[in-house]
Amino acid sequence: MTATAHYETPYGAFQLNCYPPRPNERLIAWCSADTLLLAETHRRRTPGSRILVVNDTYGALCIALEPQALWTDSALTVLALRQNERMNKRIQTPIVWSTAEPPLTPQLVVLRIPKQRPLFEYQLSQLARLLPQQTTVLAAGMDKHLSPHTAEILERYIGPTQRHRGQHKARIFSAIRDQRCAKKYRGTATYHCEALNAEVCSLANVFSREKLDMGTRFLLEKLPSSLQTETLIDLACGNGVLGLVALKRGIAARITFCDESAMALHSARLNAGRLFPQQTNDISFHQGDGLVAYRETQAQLILCNPPFHLQHTVDDFAGRHMLSQCSQHLQPGGQLYLVANRHLDYVPTLRHTFERVEKFASNTKFNIVLAQKARI
Ligand SMILES: C[S@@+](CC[C@H](N)C(=O)[O-])C[C@H]1O[C@@H](n2cnc3c(N)ncnc32)[C@H](O)[C@@H]1O
Repeated sequence: MTATAHYETPYGAFQLNCYPPRPNERLIAWCSADTLLLAETHRRRTPGSRILVVNDTYGALCIALEPQALWTDSALTVLALRQNERMNKRIQTPIVWSTAEPPLTPQLVVLRIPKQRPLFEYQLSQLARLLPQQTTVLAAGMDKHLSPHTAEILERYIGPTQRHRGQHKARIFSAIRDQRCAKKYRGTATYHCEALNAEVCSLANVFSREKLDMGTRFLLEKLPSSLQTETLIDLACGNGVLGLVALKRGIAARITFCDESAMALHSARLNAGRLFPQQTNDISFHQGDGLVAYRETQAQLILCNPPFHLQHTVDDFAGRHMLSQCSQHLQPGGQLYLVANRHLDYVPTLRHTFERVEKFASNTKFNIVLAQKARI
């Protein structure tokens, strides 16, 4: 069973769970960076209706603050938040996806500093354009994840920045918007993908945005050219490179790109629209926790390079959770090809739901696993 944890804040005590739920949960749904942000926000007495929260993880900030909106890239965060709002009978926080501009002008921005520096800079650059002078940005993160340049980056985009006390291995910064005008930072990167003979682009928070991932490259090398299907799902698609190559090779006629990240899906959409403008009716997109809420017809083929991080640590739970959903979204006889680092063994998980599971190819770093559903 997942343990619900009790979080004492200056705004009251709340019960919080992580998402997805995990037996014998090792993570808790907040960290001391959240605690520092809540203490400082409370000290300032800014009402929730004037606060914009950015990058909450499991909803600890929004549950306490009931802000005007949460600006986030992550569907997993929104699922965690909704579950915790229900549990604590809190109102639903409006969501603004990372690919849109927050439409409001808050009095205070409460921001968890993201792992990816391009995302951090992109968000600050957007905020700098929107925030009136004198607006405060409170930003916090755990020491071990913070860049030594955090204060400098905040100051470059927002204005005079103070590095406050650290507590419980976390640190908080405050920046006050002034009239400075930093260069606009888009965070979009492009690289040439040989398999597509084209450039692919990725927004700021997308996996392997500057070059093709080695595991993905290996899967593309080994994918049989004889494969021919009507329907394909590119699961955990990132910028969509696996699915796009499958389209180019004629492996699939119709394709769905799935990811939890708004920026990943937007990148896949941009790449698909540019490279296959004639096929846009055959291409769809699904943002969510893998295929949990996917209701379309079953596919014949799934390609996947599964996530291998949970927060900041390498962990196979996210991948196992995702792969356990695949079989029910495949037609009888349907196939899943996945690539994973050699030390992450998904074969036992797949054996629960697939008739045949085999190592299809390996090199010194990666395994490709082929799983086939029973034909019935
Ligand atoms: C290893 S990357 C692979 C990206 C892309 N397929 C490639 O090969 O470059 C894994 C992707 O899984 C996404 N992801 C992580 N957890 C997810 C979840 N629960 N549901 C859907 N996508 C998820 C991440 O946003 C990331 O884009």
